[in-house]
Amino acid sequence: MSNANILLGVNIDHFATLRQARYRDAGRLNGQMVEPDPMVLSLLSEKAGADGITVHPREDERHIQRGDVLRIRENIQTRLNMEMAATDDMLAFALEVKPDSICIVPENREEVTTEGGLDVAGNFERIAAIVESAWNAGIETSLFIDPDPDQIVASAKAKASHIELHTGAYANAYYESGRSEEFARLVEGSERAHSAGLIVNAGHGINYVNIKEVRTLPHLNELNIGHSIISRSVFYGIDEAVREMKALIIGG
Ligand code: PXP
Repeated sequence: MSNANILLGVNIDHFATLRQARYRDAGRLNGQMVEPDPMVLSLLSEKAGADGITVHPREDERHIQRGDVLRIRENIQTRLNMEMAATDDMLAFALEVKPDSICIVPENREEVTTEGGLDVAGNFERIAAIVESAWNAGIETSLFIDPDPDQIVASAKAKASHIELHTGAYANAYYESGRSEEFARLVEGSERAHSAGLIVNAGHGINYVNIKEVRTLPHLNELNIGHSIISRSVFYGIDEAVREMKALIIGG
C-alpha cells in the first residue's frame, strides 16, 4: 500500500546536540558558526525530501539554541514545527519565531529526550490558553500525548488542531511481547482522535525497521523522526538518510 500523503518532519536537534558536545560555550558567547550547523542540515534535509523541520528549544538551551531556531525559520522553504514546554517564556519565543506549528511537550530538566506524553487533562487551563494564543497568531498547535482516551478528549476540548501520538512505548516494546498491544493502543488512539476532529501525527523512537508497521497507522498526517535519521546520516550522509526514510514511509 502506498502512503504517499504521509509527511516527514525531520527533528534536527540531535545535530545541535553533537555541536554542543564540543562547542557548548563558543556558540552561545559569540554566535559564531560552529559545526555541525543545524540550519545547513535543515536545508539539506529539505533537499532530500523532508516535508518539514522540527526543533525543540529547551529552557536551558542544552541542544538547539534560540538563535538556531530563528535562522532555521528564516531559511527553510518547508514547514517549521517547534516543540516546546508549556511555559510563558516558550510561548513568547514561539510568538517571536512564528513557526507553522508548535507541539507542546512535557519537559524535565534531567531527561535526555522527551520521556512521556503531555498531561493535557491535568494542565487543561494552561494548555488551552497556549493553544488559543498560538491560534490567534496563526500558528497551529499539536499536543504530544500518549494514546490515552482521556488525553485525546482533553486535546480536542483544548481546541488543538493536531495531536502527536507518542510512539515511544511501542518502539521500546518492538522486540518484546507487548508490541502488538502497544500498536493496538496507537491504532485505537488514532481512530479516536480522528473521530474527535484532530489531525494525527506520531513520533518518538521511529526507525528504519519499525517504520514499516508505524506507517500503517490509520489517519496519519505526519511522522516526526530524529534520532534514527541523524544516526544513519553518520554513515551515509543526511541526503541518503532522509531519502531512505521518506521512501519507507511512502512504501510501495
Ligand atoms: N516528537 C517529539 C514530540 C519528540 O519530543 C521527539 C524527540 O525529540 C521526537 C518526535 C523524535 O524522536 P526520535 O528522536 O526518537 O525520533
